[in-house]
Amino acid sequence: MSSSQPKPSEITPKEVWLTRRRWIQSGLALGVLGATAGAGAWWWGREPDEATPARHGRPLEGVVKTGYRVDEPLTDYADVTHYNNFLELGSDKETPAERAAFLPTRPWTVRVDGECEAPGEIDIETILKVYPREERVYRFRCVEAWYMVVPWVGFSLGDLLRRFKPTSKAKYVAFESLYDPDHPLPGQRRLRLGWPYREGLRMDEAMHPLTLLATGLYGEELPAQNGAPLRLVVPWKYGFKSIKSVVRIHFSEHQPVTTWNRLQSDEYGFYANVNPEVDHPRWSQRRHRVLGASVFAGKQPTQMFNGYAAEVAGLYRGMDLHKFF
Ligand code: MTE
Repeated sequence: MSSSQPKPSEITPKEVWLTRRRWIQSGLALGVLGATAGAGAWWWGREPDEATPARHGRPLEGVVKTGYRVDEPLTDYADVTHYNNFLELGSDKETPAERAAFLPTRPWTVRVDGECEAPGEIDIETILKVYPREERVYRFRCVEAWYMVVPWVGFSLGDLLRRFKPTSKAKYVAFESLYDPDHPLPGQRRLRLGWPYREGLRMDEAMHPLTLLATGLYGEELPAQNGAPLRLVVPWKYGFKSIKSVVRIHFSEHQPVTTWNRLQSDEYGFYANVNPEVDHPRWSQRRHRVLGASVFAGKQPTQMFNGYAAEVAGLYRGMDLHKFF
């Protein structure tokens, strides 16, 4: 059933990959006219062009290195910031960086409400002032079977959640990304995804110290294409859970509706824990391609919970891990 390589329709609604196919078709048409660009290479994602170095953001002061640090080579800044999934800005890997300027990142306010005693708002300047700037080097595994190692800057989500005093009824936490119907972002204008992008975690997952709210990477402010000014990072789950550009957090008694789970529940589970033993219906999850690595390096084996089993397996004791992809 599964093939060894993700297809262009990987983690992508039909509408998006049809657009990709149209591009590929036009690429082929160009080929007839004498161009040599390979359409196949197109959807695998070009590696960033070394001749045009990646633009850097403002350095963040007071960044403290912590023990949350995997002992693996860091993925290059250029790869981390130019090979992105951010449908609000575009549906291939390069356009989010090219369209970074479309994302208005200031002023920025996060609304926190639902099952809590102190609902309210907090702006990004306060977040940057009040919460630590910890550098944590995490593994990041996309459901599309690519992988990177990123030095994020941020703090545990639980620190922010406690400020709003969740009640005992708060069993889940729901997140929403930026969506202003009067000023949609380029991808929101083109794709009918049911905006805003939504994600969710169980309360104990949200309060787990590894669950990070990132405000930066590589010691600099988070680039727009990586989810500025504030994004979630859940390193033991597939990357689509790590929602970008968060504007709302909602405590809820019931499991929230999430974007990918609603679009294709048989392919994208609510839990979405990295699990090499559960194939995606269209490809294997046993191995992954390390972003930026030489093509001769081959694919690397994927670890259960992306290598964080010692820290998080206890959260799922008694659950059938095959069922809770
Ligand atoms: N968040 C929003 N708002 N929109 C998105 O399209 N894509 C998700 C996730 N968060 C996405 C998002 C997916 S599929 C992945 S793999 C990661 O962001 C990619 O993060 P990166 O671009 O920083 O590598």
